[in-house]
Order: sequence, then C-alpha cells, then structure tokens
Amino acid sequence: RYMDLRRPEMYASIKLRHIVAQAMRSALNERGFIEVETPILANSTPEGARDYLVPSRPNPGRFYALPQSPQQFKQMLMVGGIERYYQIARCFRDEDLRADRQPEFTQVDIEMSFVEETDVMDMMEGVFKEVLSAAGVEHAFPLTRMPWKEAMDRFGCDRPDVRFGMELVDLTDIVAGCGFGVFSKAVEAGGAVKCINAKGAGDWSRGEIEKLAKVASDNGAKGMAWIAYTADGKEKSPIIKFLGDEVHAAIKEAAGVEPGDLLLFAADSFDIASAVLSALRLHMADALGIDREGHALLWVVDFPMFKFDEDEKKYAAEHHPFTMIPREDWDKIETDPLACGSYSYDIVMDGFEMGGGSIRIHDAELQKRVLARCGVDDEDMERKFGHLIHALELGAPPHGGIALGLDRLVMLLAGKQSIRDVIAFPKTSSAADPMTGAPSAVSGRQLKDVSLRLL
Ligand code: AMO
Ligand code: AMP
Repeated sequence: RYMDLRRPEMYASIKLRHIVAQAMRSALNERGFIEVETPILANSTPEGARDYLVPSRPNPGRFYALPQSPQQFKQMLMVGGIERYYQIARCFRDEDLRADRQPEFTQVDIEMSFVEETDVMDMMEGVFKEVLSAAGVEHAFPLTRMPWKEAMDRFGCDRPDVRFGMELVDLTDIVAGCGFGVFSKAVEAGGAVKCINAKGAGDWSRGEIEKLAKVASDNGAKGMAWIAYTADGKEKSPIIKFLGDEVHAAIKEAAGVEPGDLLLFAADSFDIASAVLSALRLHMADALGIDREGHALLWVVDFPMFKFDEDEKKYAAEHHPFTMIPREDWDKIETDPLACGSYSYDIVMDGFEMGGGSIRIHDAELQKRVLARCGVDDEDMERKFGHLIHALELGAPPHGGIALGLDRLVMLLAGKQSIRDVIAFPKTSSAADPMTGAPSAVSGRQLKDVSLRLL
C-alpha cells in the first residue's frame, strides 16, 4: 500500500481528502461551530450495525463499544450548552462491506441548537458551496428538496441519481383487473405494477433482454416482463398477448413509447417493485452508456419515522430513534407507527447517500415512547439510554444536525469507484488489513488479562 501511495493518482486522492477536510473545517469555523472530540471507548449507539467491542481489563466481563457515530454525545453536548458542534469523527460499524462502506470510516459530524430542518439544510448548503468550490466543483444552489415519497415513486429509491431520466412509470391503475394474471394479482394483493422505459434498447435480442431478469431477481423479483419496440416498428414481448389492446395502448401512452424503446416491468409489493426497477434503471444507464458525468446534489426529506423489520419482526427507526416526529403524528406512535412522519433529511450526491440528519427529540417522555416502539424494554432503556434520557429531563434545547460521509464525498469528487481509493490504509472486504495483518491472534496472556477465553 505504501508503494501504491507513491503513484501520482493516489497522492492526488489523499491530497483532495485533505483539501476537503480543511475546507469543511474552515466553513464550519466561520459559522461559529467549535470542534469537540467525543469518546472512542464508549457505550453502544445504535445506527443499525453491529458494534465493535473492546474488553475492559479493570472491569472483567465488561465491554466498551466503539461508536457507530457520536450521535448521543453530540446531543448531550447540546444539553451542555455547546450550541454549535462539529467533529471530523471516526465511526466504527461491523456490517457487510461494499464499495462505499468500510468498517471504520469518517464523518463530518455536526449538531446545532435552536434550529429547525430548514436552518440545518440552509446552513449546510453554504458549507457545501465552499467545500465543492475548494475541490474545483461548481454546483447550482439552492438544492432541490425532494420528499422521500416522491423519490420512491419516481426513482424507486431514497438516494436517486438524478443526472438522467428513465423514471419509473406507475401502471397500477391501468393494469388493475387486466387479463395478465401476474399484473392483476399484484394489484389485488395491494402491490404495485410499474415499468421503466429504456430508450435505445428496443432492438436488443430476446436473449440479451432475458439476461436482465437476473438483475431483477437479485433484487427480489419473481419475474421480469418486458415489451420491446424495434426501431422499424415491430413489437416483441412474452406478455402483449395477455394484456389486450386497450391496456397495451394505455401502457404505451403512460410510458411515452416510441420505436426503439424497451419497457421493463415489475409487479410486486411497492417496496420490491421499487427496488427492482431502481436497480434496472441504473443497470440500463450503464448498459446504454447514458451520460452520468458531473455531480448532482439534492436533499431527500420527510422520511417515514419507522419501518417494519421483516427479519426481526419488529418496528425500527428508519433514520435513528432520536429523530423528531411532527406533533400531529405523536398519537400514532403506538397505534399506526408506519404513518408517523419525521423531521429528517439525507443529502444525496450522484446516487449515493452522502449524509443524513434530523431534528432530534428533546423531550424525555417522547424519547421513551419511540424507543419502546423500537422494542427497547425498560431495562435496556435505563442501561443503554438512561444517560441521554436523564439529560433530556434536565431541559434540552430543541436541536438537530447532520453527519456527512467524508470518504464518500471525497470518493465522488475524486471520480473513484470505491472509498478504499481515498483512504490511506483501508481494509479489505473481509475487514482485514493485509499490510499489518490486522485483525490478528493475541497471546493467552493478553486474553487472560481481559478475562476472556476463546471458544
Ligand atoms: P448515518 O448512519 O446515515 O447517520 O451516517 C451518516 C453518513 O456516514 C456515511 N457512512 C459510511 N461511510 C462509509 N462506510 C460506512 N460503513 C458508512 N456508514 C455510514 C454515509 C452516511 O450518509 N448519527 C447519524 C447522523 C445524524 O443524525 O446526525 C448517522 O450516523 O455517508
Ligand atoms: P409467467 O406467467 O410466470 O410465465 O410470466 C410471464 C411473464 O411475466 C414473464 O416474462 C415473467 O418474467 C413475467 N413476470 C412474472 N412475474 C413477474 C413479476 N412479479 N413482475 C414482473 N414480471 C413478472
């Protein structure tokens, strides 16, 4: 790795990271923020991943958890009267790794008191403008603020790449009760039928098109219906014969079909249909060589507060359980959690979630209700969140903030495919460092010191 770093391209990426971090610092300093460090040896803060644990020698059988983020500490700093905080903070998450995920990564973590959503977003847009310009990128401001529902409807995901179209077309009403069972049954089951129009793929062969079904099935689809319209005016499809002329004509109109187009369909629950078409949309953009140069930032706002976790069979927070719920939804926390909104926002760049934040709950009772809704029992409430709840009881200012993934931002600005390319000493996909050999075995003596025995 250190030999690799000698290459000018690698040096340029590491230097860009420095420039971005310095620009962040000065933009935040100018706005009255102060940098405060928070503990690395800490208690668990849930951000949806597993914790990295550190055994404590003086306290046998007890463990620190490395922070998944400084979330609870920054909220307690607000209670402590530090009105504007930031930190370039290392975070640790034991989760499945991908090109944009490392087990340890860096957030530009920010929190402010006496603010509403628009204050945080407006302030951040000023910061982005300065940081992008330090990196040599000009972008138009103010940024679009797209409601989460609209992002899901139009792009099938909450971090849309808006640098190209090929938006999802909702056909649910059109195909309700139609002769094609796959579609009409999905509608009857309360699901959605949608399609994308991949312009320029209408002359693909049957074999090429059927290969796309793998992208669909990898994202949960049970099949992938399609209709191809060749440039010379012919129609090819395994499903036209079931649809009937009227429904087919309505689909063509809704999707704006012209010769040379290929329609790809998903009929399933709203979530699966969205995930399938979102993946196909990105796949087709690559396959058709659609221009995705330059950068596009936007906010996605108004996420639902809760989601239902099918694996664990319980409700969980969509962002995190410290996110504020609009007053009018408070009485739905127990009765209709999926209908609860939240004051939350993600900053999306080029199809990546670059950052996310929210206005926080500053009322102890409300915080307990939300944690209880997420399945936290009384004992855990005290043990894991007692410090935060007690801090809120003492009187916390209304507050909110955001955290940016510094690695992701620099990756995108550097035009790289992986955050590994902008981290001096990254880890592999099995969370190992081949250079130093970490993680490594430790001696029996070291284990004994911390009262551990290996299974
Ligand atoms: P969140 O979990 O969305 O929010 O994280 C914020 C940003 O951190 C980056 N990120 C990662 N980057 C690299 N590798 C990872 N494993 C990884 N995980 C997350 C992403 C993400 O948008 N405490 C809240 C923020 C807040 O509410 O203020 C939080 O951590 O770019
Ligand atoms: P079948 O009737 O199962 O042979 O499917 C007919 C066509 O519909 C095939 O092209 C399938 O790939 C497609 N198909 C099946 N299930 C779905 C689904 N849930 N969404 C979209 N297309 C589907």
